[in-house]
Amino acid sequence: MCGIVGYTGRAQAAPILLYGLERLEYRGYDSAGITVNSGTLQTVKASGRLANLAALTNNGADLHGNCGIGHTRWATHGEPTDNNAHPHVASSGQISIVHNGIIENYRKLKDWLLARGVAFQSETDTEVVSQLIDYYYEGDLLAAVRKAIYKLEGSYALGIVAADAPDTIIAVRKDSPLIAAVTDGEAFIASDVTAIIKYCREVIYLDDNTIAVITPGNITCYNKYGKVQDLTPVTIDWDIEAAQKGGYAHFMLKEINEQPKVLRDTLAGRIVADAAGARVDLSDAGLTPEVLQAVRKVHIVGCGSAYHAGVVAKYQLEGFARIPCEVTLASEFRYSSPVVLPGTLCVVISQSGETSDSIAALREAKALGVSTLAVVNVRGSTIAREADYILYTNAGPEIAVATSKAYSAQVAAMTLLAVALAEFNSGAKRENLQAVLNDLIKLPDLEEQILSDISLVQLAASRYFNHSSVFFIGRGLDYAAALEASLKLKEISYIHSEAYAGGELKHGTISLIEPGTLVIAVAACTKLAEKIESNIKEVKTRGAEVLTITTSSLSKNFTDCGDILIEIPDTHELLTPLLTALPLQLFAYYTALNNGCDIDKPRNLAKSVTVE
Ligand code: AGP
Repeated sequence: MCGIVGYTGRAQAAPILLYGLERLEYRGYDSAGITVNSGTLQTVKASGRLANLAALTNNGADLHGNCGIGHTRWATHGEPTDNNAHPHVASSGQISIVHNGIIENYRKLKDWLLARGVAFQSETDTEVVSQLIDYYYEGDLLAAVRKAIYKLEGSYALGIVAADAPDTIIAVRKDSPLIAAVTDGEAFIASDVTAIIKYCREVIYLDDNTIAVITPGNITCYNKYGKVQDLTPVTIDWDIEAAQKGGYAHFMLKEINEQPKVLRDTLAGRIVADAAGARVDLSDAGLTPEVLQAVRKVHIVGCGSAYHAGVVAKYQLEGFARIPCEVTLASEFRYSSPVVLPGTLCVVISQSGETSDSIAALREAKALGVSTLAVVNVRGSTIAREADYILYTNAGPEIAVATSKAYSAQVAAMTLLAVALAEFNSGAKRENLQAVLNDLIKLPDLEEQILSDISLVQLAASRYFNHSSVFFIGRGLDYAAALEASLKLKEISYIHSEAYAGGELKHGTISLIEPGTLVIAVAACTKLAEKIESNIKEVKTRGAEVLTITTSSLSKNFTDCGDILIEIPDTHELLTPLLTALPLQLFAYYTALNNGCDIDKPRNLAKSVTVE
């Protein structure tokens, strides 16, 4: 996600801004920039590493002024170019802003401003905010900001400066985090504490829907009704490294806990409501109704967890959208002389967009003449650039090698695709679509509910962390979820495990079950509950220890046939993999923690496998 810093005080601002951006580098970015205000706005931006920006400004020495804002960009709208980098200066040259978040209605606002003669420089959603503030600005920056944010829909942390207010920064916070700090004669804003902890450990976490007016040594906060808010600073006792993890012990744990926000961001703007009810709109990916109606089959390719997201999608596409679907490992697809018929949409799923096997599979599909869709997280990545259509996941940068939030975002994106295709395929009824979308919108809250109490997961990990082999079983969507759960456990705890379709146990594997063998059953599918219950009993009678992940309404089926039972809240069956993923990721995390493994950087693994 993007990084914001701001400073106003007696020192030169530019070096402080550059230092703060360096402390935010771990968040991942593809470009950066700063604006320094000396009564004239001086703005320098550069794609690539921060070193490029430092070189352009002589480490900040060439920019004079005691107030300014800075930004590291993780691209969401518009490629990672100098032009799309923040800060974004309005056409008048009088307003400059930095932004973290997504302006969902930016297209409508951009059209409104274009119709009023405003000229735009970039492809970003952020520039719309800068131009809108400038449109309303008549010398009172706070009034102009208020008018502008009244029109915004989406998530935003903003830092705003105006040339004729050379010591003032206005900060705005809605959904995206933003903090402030005030010392004697100075004041700071930042996306998180790492950027300013060197100067001040008394930090104000701005509340949602807050506007703050910041001048040297002073901050005044207003709530959404314009009333002044009391501010209670928090003392930060973390060190910088801990702060980069937001106080979590590992990036992986932080990213597991970011999943509700990531789900909201990935769904943002893609479920729209009209008189007929809610529907999916994937026009931002180029998937218009005409494109979707032409799809006769979906062929998904990916590696590792991305492949597992594809297996989840296969069950959704065939079971719900009634669209034939095939899922192939990218490393197999590229060498298997695949037969891909006309009317097939080849979907390449990849967090990094740089996985060598997945790039090759994409090129193989294009050579076969079929349409290609990239479901990727990194803007401007190779797969994003070469596919015909791009459905971005909005997971933000994922630092831990083992994916969690990006995998969930892939599943969410593919769920949207399944619902969108269902709408154009007579096999699915409209009321079914509504039922799925109504539950999908509620899912982030259910994820937060799961993350709010993880004691049973921690108990299971403390009981089972020293096992040398683990078997995951599930049926249907639960089998797909079990595949990913098994990989998670293997790659960070180094414990061997395998995932099996529950009905497959009898065909050989059950010979491996002996007293004390750990079996983890994923059992969230109502119509298969009795079947997986039988499978659990089969392994229990052979002495297995059984950890069951099931839903609240199904739990009564499993209370007396396992050893530990973890419940997830009820939701539409099509969506259960998004919920079962959380306890299964956490089980892998705490098991690895108990084994003293290097959780964020597991041995032998790379975050992106850019070689064969
Ligand atoms: C998952 O935790 C692993 N990091 C790995 O399986 C990963 O999913 C796979 O290498 C694919 O990477 P991609 O999504 O960047 O293409």
